[in-house]
Amino acid sequence: MKILVINGPNLNLLGLREPALYGSKNFAALQEFILTAAKDLGLEVELFQSNHEGCIVDAIQEAYNRYDGILINPAAYTHTSVAILDALKAVALPCVEVHLTDISTREKFRQFSYVSLYAEHTICGQGFEGYRQGLEYLKENYDKQ
Ligand code: DQA
Repeated sequence: MKILVINGPNLNLLGLREPALYGSKNFAALQEFILTAAKDLGLEVELFQSNHEGCIVDAIQEAYNRYDGILINPAAYTHTSVAILDALKAVALPCVEVHLTDISTREKFRQFSYVSLYAEHTICGQGFEGYRQGLEYLKENYDKQ
């Protein structure tokens, strides 16, 4: 099973970025964590990060027929992007949404997620571990083998 893992804007600044909220480990450590979790679960993953909404839309479109599922942390675009929601609906791949922090207890503007209108499962507030749980969910629910 092949999963595309998408990380949105500013996640490349993990470690530097508001460490009290997002932790002190950097983005390379997150990527390493995801690759290790995927290997343990016997999943193939490709990692994609962009600070640009259109690039994320392109990556989702290009996932059609190439991946069996998408794990996405849309970061700030979670709360604003109808374009990312529409792209997910268009390719209609199994999708899990993940957030490092618990967006339901943060500022009001973070409490609504466009991506949740499509994603069938959302994991919040588990830090890096949420990515492992998201991969596990996709494997348990969609691995045809
Ligand atoms: C985030 C939460 C978003 O509100 C924020 O804009 C991010 C990261 C998270 O992982 O907790 O960039 O998606």
